[in-house]
Amino acid sequence: MKSFYLTTAIDYVNGSPHLGHAYEKVLTDVIARYRRLMGDQVHFLTGVDEHGQKVQMSARKKGIDPQQFCDETSLEFRALCTKLNISNDDFIRTTETRHKAVVRELLQRLFDKGEIYRAEYKGFYSTRQEQFLQEKDRLPDGSWPEIYGEVTEITESNYFFRLKNYQEWLIGYLQEHENFVFPRYRQKQVVEFLKEPLNDLCISRPRERLEWGIPLPFDEKYVTYVWFDALINYISAIWKDGAPDPRFWPVDFHVIGKDILVPPHAVYWPIMLKACGIEPPKALLAHGWWLQSGAKMSKSTGNAVNPLDLVGQFGADAFRYYLIREMNVGQDSDFSAEHFVIRYNSDLANDLGNLVNRTLNMTNRFGGGVIPAAEVEEEPEKELKDLWAKTQAEYTPLCEGLQFHSALERTFVFVKAINAYIEKRAPWKLGKSTEAADQARLRTSLATMAESLRLAATFIQPVMPGTTEKIHAALGYKAGAVWRDEHPWSTKLDGCKVEQGLVLFPRPEPAAPAAGAAPAQPKQPKQPKQG
Ligand code: ME8
Ligand code: MG
Repeated sequence: MKSFYLTTAIDYVNGSPHLGHAYEKVLTDVIARYRRLMGDQVHFLTGVDEHGQKVQMSARKKGIDPQQFCDETSLEFRALCTKLNISNDDFIRTTETRHKAVVRELLQRLFDKGEIYRAEYKGFYSTRQEQFLQEKDRLPDGSWPEIYGEVTEITESNYFFRLKNYQEWLIGYLQEHENFVFPRYRQKQVVEFLKEPLNDLCISRPRERLEWGIPLPFDEKYVTYVWFDALINYISAIWKDGAPDPRFWPVDFHVIGKDILVPPHAVYWPIMLKACGIEPPKALLAHGWWLQSGAKMSKSTGNAVNPLDLVGQFGADAFRYYLIREMNVGQDSDFSAEHFVIRYNSDLANDLGNLVNRTLNMTNRFGGGVIPAAEVEEEPEKELKDLWAKTQAEYTPLCEGLQFHSALERTFVFVKAINAYIEKRAPWKLGKSTEAADQARLRTSLATMAESLRLAATFIQPVMPGTTEKIHAALGYKAGAVWRDEHPWSTKLDGCKVEQGLVLFPRPEPAAPAAGAAPAQPKQPKQPKQG
């Protein structure tokens, strides 16, 4: 059986990880976990991009050897994965032997086929983007856009990859594969880009200018251009007997940011693969940017929020919830630590956390700690079950369409409805009645809130796996092996013994949060009602 293979971009290690890196890993992890829950075999790769001028310069600034610099900073990226509870199956570093060997093997293959030639190059170069620029990249006033940083003119002899020869092939490929890029409107950007004639790609850097790279196998006076090196990570990590392992390749999704779609992932990469006789990726998922007051956060401009601060303070699941709930995959979103705290308090501490507490408290108080069987079905039960049926019908299509923010939103509408159900049933009032019908309603209300909580917990699992597990455990329940069998309304909880209590999302200390531009005193919604 072929695995569902998905990857993140590999992060430059020239600075510490930031929110953009965290988001990409969380998004990819949510897809990976969702697919696993749906029964797929999944292979999830992430890693770091360690070569190139930026890394060499950062290492020099610190006065250490680039390998030592990479060894140290790559640990921060690994630690980020652990902190965010990322379920990656592999982590690749481009300084690893397994990677360098494949890059050199493919370069030699292309050189032998005549796909790589040597020529004189004269032009403008952006170190920040590690990219040669063209006249058309200039702004109307003749200057270079800020994203390129310092631009210098250089003349040198280099090796070129015959990108141009594949332009027509790629145009045809995109016509036949309308869903190559998600979201679809981004595929149009690729098509637009290909309306201009492509230039062959310079894939070497003279060693006298840049030492920190993979030497070309056919001319050791040069190292490999960092993008040509980096893209190959997606196959070097799964290389087997001279080809990407067919258990994984072709990849199902390369998850990347929109800034590296055109040209690296949508143009260079499919053409590199085609020239090597390897199938192109099945799809590229280009997500948007997290912005802070409208500007992309990056290491180079120094306005990065350190995601680890929020994770440490609020926990991985709360952080994951915020990122997925706030971002419509593909679009941009503004990050605000203040808004983070508001969402945390209202959705997690208040709606979900409070529901868990009420359910446990009332089951202990009125049911002796054991979830009873439902006995009646009146209007309040019917309403809640109908809403669940609707939520269930919407959820899977939303996830399949990568609309995880909406899937979460619907799930939390249901969570709110459970709380409203509890208010309506008021078990604390039913508990005072001695009438048999009220006693039956009381038992039914305990069963109904527990079951609906179990269901809601099931749907948050791809995004908040730790929370799901804790809720199920607190209900004295262990989910079965087939996730979809957990989705229908059931009587699975009848007779389960619940825990005394569970504090899922403690309220932040008054001085919180430390990260970003948060106010000292976050707005606190009113304290949860106790049942
Ligand atoms: O581009 N919001 O590495 P990188 C959302 N090494 N995503 C963001 C972001 C933000 N503010 N800032 C960055 C590279 N990203 C190359 C990739 S892949 C073979 C080589 C995303 O560290 C960015 O779009 O600059 C990219 O997908 C990833 O973080 C790594 O960015
Ligand atoms: Mg970048």
